[in-house]
Amino acid sequence: MGNSGYLPLSGTKPARGYFLFRSYAVSVFIAICFIFWYRLAYFPLLEVETPPTQRWVWVGMFLSELWFTLYFFITVVVKWNPVFRYTFKDRLSARYDDEALPGVDIFVCTADPRIEPPTMVISTVLSVMAYDYPPQKLSIYLSDDGGSDLTFYALLEASRFAQLWLPFCRKLKVEPTSPHAYFQTHPQPVDDSALANQWFTIKKSYEDMKSGIETITKLGKVPADIRKEHKGFDEWDFVSSRHDHPSILHVLVDGTDPNSIDIEGKALPTLVYLSREKRPQFHHHFKAGALNALIRVSSRISNAPFILNVDCDMYSNNSEAIRDALCFFLDEENGHDIAYVQYPQTFSNLTRNEIYGSLRVVMEFELPGFDGNGGPCYIGTGCVHRREALCGTKYSKELAVEWKAMKHDRESASSIAEDCKALASCAYEENTLWGKEMGAKYGSLVEDILTGISIQARGWRSVYLNPEKTAFLGMVPTTLLDTLVQHKRWAEGLLQIFLSKHCTFLYGRQNMPLKLQLSYCIYMLWAPNSFATLYFVFVPSFCLLKGIPLFPKISCFWSIPFLYVIFVHRVHSLVEFVWCGGTIRGWLNEQRMWLFKRTTSYVFAIIDNILMLCRCLKSAFVITGKVADHDVNQRYEQEIMDFGASSPMFTILATLALFNLFSLIALGTKKIAVCDVGMEVFDIFGFQITLCCLLVFVNLPIYQAAFFRKDGGKIPASVTLMSSTFALLASALAIY
Ligand SMILES: *[C@@H]1O[C@H](CO)[C@@H](O)[C@H](O)[C@H]1NC(C)=O
Ligand SMILES: *[C@@H]1O[C@H](CO)[C@@H](O)[C@H](O)[C@H]1NC(C)=O
Repeated sequence: MGNSGYLPLSGTKPARGYFLFRSYAVSVFIAICFIFWYRLAYFPLLEVETPPTQRWVWVGMFLSELWFTLYFFITVVVKWNPVFRYTFKDRLSARYDDEALPGVDIFVCTADPRIEPPTMVISTVLSVMAYDYPPQKLSIYLSDDGGSDLTFYALLEASRFAQLWLPFCRKLKVEPTSPHAYFQTHPQPVDDSALANQWFTIKKSYEDMKSGIETITKLGKVPADIRKEHKGFDEWDFVSSRHDHPSILHVLVDGTDPNSIDIEGKALPTLVYLSREKRPQFHHHFKAGALNALIRVSSRISNAPFILNVDCDMYSNNSEAIRDALCFFLDEENGHDIAYVQYPQTFSNLTRNEIYGSLRVVMEFELPGFDGNGGPCYIGTGCVHRREALCGTKYSKELAVEWKAMKHDRESASSIAEDCKALASCAYEENTLWGKEMGAKYGSLVEDILTGISIQARGWRSVYLNPEKTAFLGMVPTTLLDTLVQHKRWAEGLLQIFLSKHCTFLYGRQNMPLKLQLSYCIYMLWAPNSFATLYFVFVPSFCLLKGIPLFPKISCFWSIPFLYVIFVHRVHSLVEFVWCGGTIRGWLNEQRMWLFKRTTSYVFAIIDNILMLCRCLKSAFVITGKVADHDVNQRYEQEIMDFGASSPMFTILATLALFNLFSLIALGTKKIAVCDVGMEVFDIFGFQITLCCLLVFVNLPIYQAAFFRKDGGKIPASVTLMSSTFALLASALAIY
């Protein structure tokens, strides 16, 4: 194609309102400068009669504010220059007909049939099988780290149901293509009776399959008569446990076999079940290990140049997502250095006001900002990779291999199954670069972020695409503890990267732009936020009781920059949140979760990192979530916070909440009564009183859960007792 006729396959939209954002950022910086001026000019060192505590508290305030400023600066760097992309799929179709399109391998990872029910897993698998893409070019691989015959049975059933489901999706242009989600959201069509009939038949066979699988899942094992139906079940004769078994690999639909067709005679995508070998003496490296086994096995079977990977709870909600991603890779001018196209992580089961927070702002503003700074991080799911980049190739203009050169003569997949099993064995990776230079990286709690960094550090670019119609929908944890534990794991892994040789400033020095190296800090430094936040939650209220002022008088000039920063910063956050579709109550919930995460998850993340650095290794705080039951789900849907367990995290939350409450009460009874001029007290302590009131307001659900609720989600009495004691002791210490 001559360059004259070149039309790009994608474009970028200018960010709306970014002038406003920049003015906001600059003005806040100016106000912050005034705050530091005040902190230095009024440092209590100069007055001889000040008690030493006051000096130290002042230093603490100064350091906390310094930290907040640093973090604010990083946030501004991330959001300064966002990029919003869109694609021209019609141009892609015009340039590439079905024959010319590249192959795409899709990896779905599941780990445990008890936590991830097989019916959910196959809904995801069916949703990606039904992509609007030539089926002979698609191969779907399910990695089952649970090594469960229940999952295998479900997939076998799904491969049969696909023969009905795929033609149905084509004919009715079904969206979303996950049968579970589709039948949940779409009522039976009323108009066309032939259509309605077909709809009913398909729904019936889906329900039958689903209840069959559910029955057997409940039973816990596959009955003998079903086992006889497929020779694949024989493999489970050699499985002693999920941690000790040989590789199990079955090609359930072989795309090269002319008999693999749906009921309309059209080809079906290849479908492979893989459970890699597990042995107690070998480390399995969690999801990264599963991903690397899949990369190797798929290279032997289909070797597609592009790989989509999704979590098993994340179904496709947009059947054009693959074509969208290819618009970036196949762009003749700008596609050669793109390693991956990341889609946002969005959730199907958020409640209206997102009681445990969401990743809304991250997905709508921060990742586009990453994109503008050099490329989004890889977030582990909903991402289309270029195979060579994932496999460890360094980017260079000359070496860039055309994907067309990767043509692969496909042998009948069933005939090479034995070779593939060797590729998925434990010993295969011994003394190789897998997990180090090749494939997904091992040794991190956030192996996805680390893998993304290493790809970018090898000179590749990445792209973030957030199409109007959400590409993937996953699940969020539905209890507070699960949410906090999840964030603890993330914050811990990210801080670990920051403290390791993989820190972007070292590792990405050569190939990542400085602003991208800096952008990663917004996540890598999640955990250290806890120090400054804890300080602000505890010390101002403590000093309020002690009678030490920490902020300027409301009536004096210096209060203006403080007021400006506090007010404008929060208004910006609210506008940003509502702008990307949130509700006002959702924003309040987000603020609460912001506080909860910073005072618990991040604190434990820091402690674990310190223990690890001291080689005390294993995490001292084992905090486990619990299996959600009916009550828990009901409370989640009603947006009632679920505590329920006695976790050290809740003790911290309740202690801080109660301490602020006590401070406020003590202030009301003692200080105001003593000082006959209440206004004067407010003038001196205005900021501290307001902060204390805000904290009490944000913590309202905690008081409710500790003292007024009767249901199973209340704070356990032991936690309430312990927290009250701590909070009372702290208050007493302050007053006397
Ligand atoms: C969220 O997921 C849970 C567990 O899968 C489910 O029971 C619940 O109904 C979902 N909630 C919403 C609001 O979709
Ligand atoms: C998922 O897809 C459906 C059907 O196309 C669409 O109506 C819906 O808005 C999508 N969901 C989200 C969260 O975007």
